[in-house]
Amino acid sequence: MDNTFASTLLEWFSANGRDLPWRHTRDPYAIWLSEVILQQTRIVQGMDYWHRFMQTWPDVESLAAASEDDVLKAWQGLGYYSRARNLHTAARQIVKLGHFPDTLKDIKLLKGVGDYTAAAIASSAYGIPAAAVDGNVYRVLSRIEGIDTPINSTEGKKVFAALAQSLIPHDRAADFNQAMMDFGATQCTPKSPLCSQCPYMEQCVAYRENRIDELPVKIKTTKVKNRYLTYVMIHHHDKIAIHQRGTGDIWQGLWEPYLLEGEQVQLPDWQGVWELCKQSVKHVLTHRVLFADYYQFYADKKPVLPPDYIWINKNDIDKYAIPRLIEILLEPKTSR
Ligand code: ADE
Repeated sequence: MDNTFASTLLEWFSANGRDLPWRHTRDPYAIWLSEVILQQTRIVQGMDYWHRFMQTWPDVESLAAASEDDVLKAWQGLGYYSRARNLHTAARQIVKLGHFPDTLKDIKLLKGVGDYTAAAIASSAYGIPAAAVDGNVYRVLSRIEGIDTPINSTEGKKVFAALAQSLIPHDRAADFNQAMMDFGATQCTPKSPLCSQCPYMEQCVAYRENRIDELPVKIKTTKVKNRYLTYVMIHHHDKIAIHQRGTGDIWQGLWEPYLLEGEQVQLPDWQGVWELCKQSVKHVLTHRVLFADYYQFYADKKPVLPPDYIWINKNDIDKYAIPRLIEILLEPKTSR
């Protein structure tokens, strides 16, 4: 990306940037306080708290002298209370140090201050050219440059941090970081960004290639999902049918009875006697919650099954490795 990126951004910022009180000061205490409040809080909500904190404790010494209870009380309603505890601890760290830390490295030593917050403070308070990289920055840069490296991968974090760092103008570090925040928050928004009035429209790869909704790329983390399993133990005389589970799913290589999967399944129309033995048996795995129904089916004639099923003597099931859930399903009912 060329060096017009920053000048375009700063021009956009002077016309569209938000007027926020902590942008009118170079007091590191006031800036630090704003950044900690805004870590997990929206500006409209955080603003009142920032004013109230600044009134009650106008400098780091007064905050350090306050009791933790009073700080927590003042924080009430903002949530994530570890932020308030860290703020208080860090205030005492600063007082002990004798001055507000004024290098990126030293700012990062403050309790509750990570890379992003440290860069935001360092640039705003001291003009240190450290790019503050957050979700806004990932979104803006991935779209304009068409970078599809996942933002939550180690590689992605490196790529975007290096790119942002290469773009920050050393004489306008504070404005650049604040501009990136605003541009991401109000222009290049996650949903329905304002592309038609965007100064990067011509050069934006995502816009040109119609990939706005695809960028940035994030690796899906395994969320806990429900799965619904219906097992049918098919009996034919003394035989039962089982199959071995394949790769790429839970219970690889373990054996189980006939399986239908889905929240609502249709039982096969085989002739014989059906018996519903257990219903909605809940079984929790690391990334899954399973709900299982279990039927016994006594077939009049051997049904045709997929080729991976085998017929075994029903007394031989102990010789096969089966998942814990199947063990539970096979246990005799304890109550009716
Ligand atoms: N979010 C985090 N820091 C911010 C800041 N300084 N201005 C606006 N939004 C923010």
